[in-house]
Amino acid sequence: MAYIGIDLGTSAVKLLLVDEDGRILRTVSEEYPLHFPHPLWSEQDPADWWEAVVRGVRRLLDGFDASRVAGIGCGGQMHGLVALDAQDRVLRPAILWNDGRTAEQVDYLNSVVGKDVLSARTANIAFAGFTAPKLLWMRQHEPELFARIDKIMLPKDYIQYKLTGVHACDYSDASGMLLLDVQHRRWSSEMLALCGLSERQMPRLFESREVTGTLLPEAAEALGLPASVRVVAGAGDNAAAAVGTGTVHDGDCNLSIGTSGTLFIASDRFAVDPNNALHAFAHASGGYHLMGCMLSAASCNKWLCETVLQTTDYAAEQAAIREDTLGRNRVFFLPYLMGERSPINDTDARGTFVGLSMDTTRADVVLSVLEGVAFALRDSLEVARSLGLSVRRSKLCGGGAKSPLWRCILSNVLGVALDVPQTEEGPGYGGAMLAMVGCGLYPDVPSCADALVRVRETVEPDAALSALYDARYRQFRSVYPAVRELYKEIK
Ligand code: XUL
Repeated sequence: MAYIGIDLGTSAVKLLLVDEDGRILRTVSEEYPLHFPHPLWSEQDPADWWEAVVRGVRRLLDGFDASRVAGIGCGGQMHGLVALDAQDRVLRPAILWNDGRTAEQVDYLNSVVGKDVLSARTANIAFAGFTAPKLLWMRQHEPELFARIDKIMLPKDYIQYKLTGVHACDYSDASGMLLLDVQHRRWSSEMLALCGLSERQMPRLFESREVTGTLLPEAAEALGLPASVRVVAGAGDNAAAAVGTGTVHDGDCNLSIGTSGTLFIASDRFAVDPNNALHAFAHASGGYHLMGCMLSAASCNKWLCETVLQTTDYAAEQAAIREDTLGRNRVFFLPYLMGERSPINDTDARGTFVGLSMDTTRADVVLSVLEGVAFALRDSLEVARSLGLSVRRSKLCGGGAKSPLWRCILSNVLGVALDVPQTEEGPGYGGAMLAMVGCGLYPDVPSCADALVRVRETVEPDAALSALYDARYRQFRSVYPAVRELYKEIK
């Protein structure tokens, strides 16, 4: 049999066809637009996601015997608010994870309701991208639309709904709404009431590997698949990526360098960062995890190359960086192009270059962006270390992980050995693995990961280079506090 893994990303959906031995038979990718209708806003049309999934599955199955497909699992961009009316029609464009319009609502939640109250109810505090502040924003700014909400859901749950007709959500993705009592894996009635919602308007909760339904006849026809195909609840993209890279045992770590950058530490037991700088979420494996999320990671390099330098040849830009300049760059870059989430939680923060001079080269600037992302990720790692978590090795996935230079910088800035799995398609592969477990091929997610995930290459940190980067990191850390107040003035 075969399984389809879907990674519903921010710029494109990636689809994988995987056989029962875990071999990837095919991958396809379909893009869709991302809209920034106002500064800090970030929206997408759920209809674009569904059309891309339909096109993608059809291409994926072209020439393949579709009756061999047994299951589908989806990992998706987290936190996005999809609001449906009583006829399950989409009420407005989805407000995405990297949308920064809710500074006022975040301030109300964290300062008036209070971080302690939020943390006691949900294990987390409010961040601009989370779903609850978006509901408060919608209630305040679009009251007529808000009054018509019959159901809310997250992006991959919309796909799951189009496939099965079931309003479902898994615990890992639900954790990022600030509406879930993460520890007890149930909706928080207090948080729902605070946001003007009732449990009837929420999707039903499932473990990620649980089957939520089979294909609706119209979905089966649109996709060219048998209606018997089983669909599992799936996971938020980071939890799905963690499954896909085998980050499923207590203390395992995964780093993802995609549009966002994340540090993900799996845990068997529920635990909260006392300062809530790291998110405390449920894991798709059935356990929990702590996560730091930076809003712009590989997207910083994309922005520099494509928007500023007007090139798509990232490899040529990186080839111009001399090895002896690593750890010695005097240019620093703060990667806050969309504001920042972990650990500084500052929607006003912006991308910033410091230390430019007449002898700064193009290569120095490109290097500073790769390094800036690694330094900002280390900020989350330092929070984890301050909680007593020791991270000496980690899996690595995401588009940025394809660059050998960036892998080397990350390993040395973080002081961590990085294992690159054979399949770098983290969330999509994780989605397919969840489908395999849901279809009974494996008893649970960890045994599926142990059986299928293999490491292709390991990057070890070099003592001398790590020491140079330690010194640079200390300098990097002093830049944000020096400019923080300025961001408020220039917004
Ligand atoms: C995680 C987060 C991002 C998105 C990216 O909290 O907001 O990693 O899930 O798709």
